[in-house]
Amino acid sequence: MILVLNGPNLRRLGTREPDVYGAETFEDLADLCRDTGRELGHHVEVRQTDDEAEMLGWIHEACDGRIPVVLNPAAFTHYSYALRDAIAQRTAPLVEVHISNPVAREEFRHTSVVSGVATGTIAGFGLQSYVLALQAIAEMNTTS
Ligand code: DQA
Repeated sequence: MILVLNGPNLRRLGTREPDVYGAETFEDLADLCRDTGRELGHHVEVRQTDDEAEMLGWIHEACDGRIPVVLNPAAFTHYSYALRDAIAQRTAPLVEVHISNPVAREEFRHTSVVSGVATGTIAGFGLQSYVLALQAIAEMNTTS
């Protein structure tokens, strides 16, 4: 099993700034992740929350269950030390993903407080960023 966790505003994909995030919806993203997982031989569960506490709970669940994670922390990326501290307890790979390339955008997006405790980061490839992250985790062969 691989968890694909998404932070604030990502359920609004499709209507949210389509020039930046594209025209595909969150359901399209969820289908893409589940289909990719199926091809790779892993069950993929996709979740989204606008609530930092809920996201921390999911990270704790992954830590306790040794579950690998693909995480788009959205705006939490740039300021949530609580999320960083939760990820620091990880017991399986965690790949940070972004649809856009944050370092090519506004200055406040250039800082990720998450990157330093992630296994790696994939950004700027649209929804394909998630596919690449799932492939990376599958190839690490440490999934539960
Ligand atoms: C994002 C980039 C973040 O800066 C932004 O706050 C998001 C989405 C991305 O996927 O490109 O919500 O994580």
